[in-house]
Amino acid sequence: MKNRLIAPSLLSADFGNLERDIKMLNNSQADWLHVDVMDGRFVPNISFGFPVMKPIQKHSEKFIDVHLMILQPENYVEEFINHGADLVSVHYEACTHLHRVITLIQDKGAKAGVVLNPSTPVLMLEDIIEQVDLVLLMSVNPGFGGQKFIENTYKKIAETKDLILSNNSTALIEIDGGVNLDNAAKLFDAGADVLVAGNAVFSHESPERAIELLKL
Ligand code: DX5
Ligand code: ZN
Repeated sequence: MKNRLIAPSLLSADFGNLERDIKMLNNSQADWLHVDVMDGRFVPNISFGFPVMKPIQKHSEKFIDVHLMILQPENYVEEFINHGADLVSVHYEACTHLHRVITLIQDKGAKAGVVLNPSTPVLMLEDIIEQVDLVLLMSVNPGFGGQKFIENTYKKIAETKDLILSNNSTALIEIDGGVNLDNAAKLFDAGADVLVAGNAVFSHESPERAIELLKL
């Protein structure tokens, strides 16, 4: 997996025209398709589940990056993989048995990511960093698109990079929330490999152009 990747978040897409928006992304420079699943319990919002995964799996030609903002993700990861997820990320805060869930995802043939909320310290990953394929740092409190970027994320990127290097881990660093045309380059320079962007892509007059600009 190479660096400086853009993962547009479908949460900001037009769900009445989902096929159109997925095809637009297929023809864009987007690298991944970020899929935000919310259960109304782990986060104060509900997004969508398997019925929406079906058209995503059917139409997307991109790497499908599923971000589970749900309690007890272990009960659902296999079904998300069966619905086309190439990578499944689960929240540290939602997993009592994180090692078991990460192992389950990998055993089922997908890449496994762990997500940290803004207030969860990076050091909590010390005993799982070797095994995970990705660390997703939330740069907003999860639940909604279009929120303001939390500046403390830069410090956490540096800490995550150090943790990865000191453990010979191959994990990528992904940033999610409030990414825009003003901070994208700075985030990549700070060590991010993948940037999620919802509002910055879909509220732009040309989403394809926004994706190109986010990579500059
Ligand atoms: C927030 C989601 C994000 C969200 C990002 O809970 O995990 O992926 O869609 O949206 P923007 O880029 O608009 O902050
Ligand atoms: Zn997300």
